[in-house]
Formats: sequence, C-alpha cells, structure tokens
Amino acid sequence: MLNYIFEKIDSGIELSEEDLKYLLLIENKDELKKVFDKAYEIKEQNIGKKVWFRGIIEFSNICKKDCYYCGIRKSNKTVERYIMKEEEIIAGAEWAYKQNYGSVVLQSGERDDPIFVDFIERILKKIKELSKGELGITISLGEQTKETYQRWFDAGAHRYLLRVETSNTKLYKKLHPEDHNFEQRVNCLQLLKEVGYQVGTGVMIGLPMQTIDDLVDDILFFKKHDIDMIGMGPYIVSENTPTSELIEDFDSIKENQYMLSLKMIAAVRLFLKDVNIASTTALQALKTYGREMGLKAGANIIMPNVTDTIYRPSYQLYENKPCIDENSDLCMGCLESRILKIDEEIGLGEWGDSPHFTNKAAQKK
Ligand code: 5AD
Ligand code: FES
Repeated sequence: MLNYIFEKIDSGIELSEEDLKYLLLIENKDELKKVFDKAYEIKEQNIGKKVWFRGIIEFSNICKKDCYYCGIRKSNKTVERYIMKEEEIIAGAEWAYKQNYGSVVLQSGERDDPIFVDFIERILKKIKELSKGELGITISLGEQTKETYQRWFDAGAHRYLLRVETSNTKLYKKLHPEDHNFEQRVNCLQLLKEVGYQVGTGVMIGLPMQTIDDLVDDILFFKKHDIDMIGMGPYIVSENTPTSELIEDFDSIKENQYMLSLKMIAAVRLFLKDVNIASTTALQALKTYGREMGLKAGANIIMPNVTDTIYRPSYQLYENKPCIDENSDLCMGCLESRILKIDEEIGLGEWGDSPHFTNKAAQKK
C-alpha cells in the first residue's frame, strides 16, 4: 500500500481519503520512517533544505474566550494576567530583527476592544519602522471584524494564524462554550484571505473524542479552504481546564499523541506539498527533540520564543511548556545548534513566505 501511495505522489496524483487514513494509522517503525523520509523529500523539493524562524512574542494572556482545553481561558482564575508594555513588545521584535530572524509572530489571548485594536495597530507600525520594513510580521489574535483585520494588514502584518482547532463541528461544540462558533471562525479565515493575508490554520491532535477520520477531514479542510500555512500540535492536558478532566492518565497516551502529530505533519506535507508547516512547541513539550523530529517529518517553520522570561510562566496554554526559564539568547543558541545537527539550513533574514501563497499570486498575474 505504501509503495502505491508513493507512486501516486511521484506521478502527481492526489491522495485519497483512504490513503491519508492509511498514513495516519501506520504503526510499523520501518514504514513510518519511510513516510517521514518521503515527506521530508517533498518538503525539500518545494522549499529546500531550509527552516524559517519566526520569533514569537506571547505578549498577553488576557482572553475573553473560554475554550475548555486552554490554560489561559477566561474562567481559569489561577492564572496571573499580564499584558506586556508597548516598549517591551517592540524590544522583543527588535531583538529578533537583530538576530536576523526575518519574521516575528505576535500572539495573545483574544480581545477585540478598541483600545486593544489601536494598541496592535501602533505596535505593528513601529515594528515595521524599526526594521525599515524588513521584518515580516505574522499575527495570531483570534476572531476579529474585517475592518480590524484590514487595519492590522495596512499597519504591516501580512500573515495571520487562526486555528480552527478541529474541523468536526460536533467536536468543536463539545470543546467550546455555546457562544463560540465554528462557522464564524471559518468565516474569519475567508475574511483574512479577502484582506490579502497569507492565511494559516490548524488543529489540535489527539483531542478527547477525536477520531482518525476527523484528522483526515482536517487535512481535507485545509485543502478545501486553500490554506497557506499550517500549525498543528498535540493536545496536551492543562490543569484547571474542563477538557483535561476527560483524560484519566495523560502520561499513558503521550507517546501516541506525539507519533500521531508527526504523522499528521507528514500526511499534510504529502498532500498539500507547498504550504508552510510549523513544527510547534507543543511537540517539544512531549519530547525534548520533538520539534526537530517535526522538521524531519516535513515541517519547515520553527517559532522560537522571544517573550521576556518573566512573562513565560503565565502563558501556559498546556502543561510542561518548554523553554520557560531560558532567555531568548540561550533559546537561540540551543535551537541553532539543534537545527544544524539535523543538517538543515536556517533561512536567516528571509520572510519565508508560504510557497503556496507565492505560487498562487504568480498564477494570478
Ligand atoms: N494543548 C495543546 N494546544 C493547545 N492550545 C490551546 N490549549 C492547548 C492545549 N491544552 C493551542 C490552540 C490554540 C493555540 C494558540 O494553542 O490550538 O489555537
Ligand atoms: Fe483564549 Fe480560547 S481560551 S481563545
């Protein structure tokens, strides 16, 4: 079966639902290695032997939403809330710029009040200014109106991450309170595209009640919505959250979550080929070398944390989040050597746009 799937890939024939399911169900170690190697080969063909960095600044954990799985959900009263000062965020971006990272990601809990919208707009403009327009900016700030998306785009952001978390609407409902709405989220992806962003989405892998068929549907969803960038990671229990109560013994499923996440990365690479795929921090939370393994399985983006260490313990979306203590300099050193160790080059100073987006834009011309 695997040879048949590889032949299809080599002849440019689209993989079927059954093929994707087969890939996600593989347990045999030799077969798995072949799948990861093939996904890596496809990544190399489309992107090169290259990893792009995005310095991520998690500048606030204040959130108006209440997702049942998330450690910084509104109802979690054990979390000390913070928002970094404008100068601190700018300093983080400047640091990333000086390291020649090429891009930053600004992420926070969700807010849509006018003060927040203005605050972000100002920061985006300042980051553009300090980097003479050279630093690429991705934002990950949840559901907003088209007008807000437009203002932030005009201020300098050009990529947006908004995970749908799962494409199974019934499961989405079980993981969120009544006022959270899947259709609205999907509509936001459409708005972002209309404004002109490179659009990223993704899902959590190994959620309670999630099936392999759901994950196959997630991959088809990415295709259907013509997504440019994918950020997926394993679901990890988070203390004081309702979803974590559904899991009896997380330690016993960790290995499975981890392997399934790698398989998802590989399957998405084999299916979508030219999108950017992030090897997410959640993978590293499960395995020390998880992010490197994500790259080996077909991912091409790493998001080193450049948030000031004093804030990191408060941005715990899930347990065991790595690099809580290290400052950004240390993170950089360790990451760089880890990436060179797996024989990949870092695309320093480059925006590292999604080839899928660039290819689409070229076709339109
Ligand atoms: N485990 C893994 N990922 C999580 N996220 C939130 N909570 C968890 C968790 N418990 C992810 C969501 C969100 C992103 C910022 O963090 O997918 O979109
Ligand atoms: Fe903040 Fe889900 S809890 S967006």
